Amino acid sequence: MICLGIEGTAHTFGVGIVDGDCEILANLWKMYVPKVGGIHPREAANHHAEHGVGVINEAIEKAGIDKSQIDLIAFSQGPGLGPCLRTAATSARALALSLGKPLVGVNHCVAHLEIGRGLFDCGDLVLLYVSGGNTQVIAFANGKYRVFGETLDIGIGNMLDKFGREKGMTFPAGPEIERLAATTDQYQPLPYSVKGMDVAFSGILTAALNTKAELPVVCNSLQETTFAMLIEVTERAMAHLDRDEVLLGGGVACNRRLQEMVGIMAEERGASMFVPPGDLCSDNGAMIAWTGLIMHKAGIETSIEDSGVDQKFRTDDVEVTWR
Ligand code: ATP
Ligand code: FE2
Repeated sequence: MICLGIEGTAHTFGVGIVDGDCEILANLWKMYVPKVGGIHPREAANHHAEHGVGVINEAIEKAGIDKSQIDLIAFSQGPGLGPCLRTAATSARALALSLGKPLVGVNHCVAHLEIGRGLFDCGDLVLLYVSGGNTQVIAFANGKYRVFGETLDIGIGNMLDKFGREKGMTFPAGPEIERLAATTDQYQPLPYSVKGMDVAFSGILTAALNTKAELPVVCNSLQETTFAMLIEVTERAMAHLDRDEVLLGGGVACNRRLQEMVGIMAEERGASMFVPPGDLCSDNGAMIAWTGLIMHKAGIETSIEDSGVDQKFRTDDVEVTWR
């Protein structure tokens, strides 16, 4: 069984082609980079419309298959930016109809978790999902992926990108902040904002922008403070749920210091950490394809009538009947 998955929740239009053993035959993408400021949803959608067909064709070629060998089309149904979601969903519908193949709408956050379960030999894990728009601690319980902790305001990646933008860095700023942070051990205290199982970043962003410390010191302090907050909440979820496996997902999971800190926490509790390769952490079509495939195996299909997108599609809205 071969599934082609289309990801288009925000800046990335991604196409992945995956088989039933979670072998990734192709995983290509094109990313919209705003010339100034943050992502403009309409411009990102125009970008996806312009490049979509090209990425789909390239992915099919890369996979070395004929279109007729595709059994299933999956797409990111939400959450995300409306215009981007609609463009990706339109591509998926058009492809499914023209090939005469079934369609499966996938929750983007659930896909970040399922790709980890597909890649690694792991059990019931806790996912720390850290991206631009999302920051959640997720685990499976009673038929659903439940959110045990999340950001109360902006996603951590969004916070890093906003900080970077004010400091003249290009988008996305996460990698440059990581590079600067690695040049120093100096730490300047910033507000540590954990509320129960949730975290908040906007106050830290304001404090980081107002501090007089050198830029590398602020970058290091920003990482140390926010990553420690995330790890506190993740560890508490693992302890209460009695889980000894933690998976990282989302673009911020590419950060080596975050991986190191989560690794230390896991080791101290006798747990294991799993980190997908970078191109499967960031938004990608392969995770959508894989999740669509396992959902379809369990008998799930999305009719054209039900294939509308949902900008606020919550992780815990999904009935997980495939496991
Ligand atoms: P979602 O739709 O799930 O919110 P997204 O659109 O933000 O995802 P991702 O590719 O998952 O897309 O994540 C992009 C974010 O990851 C950006 O905010 C970027 O700054 C951040 N990022 C990428 N690499 C690093 C890094 N090395 N360190 C910190 N942050 C990083
Ligand atoms: Fe994502």
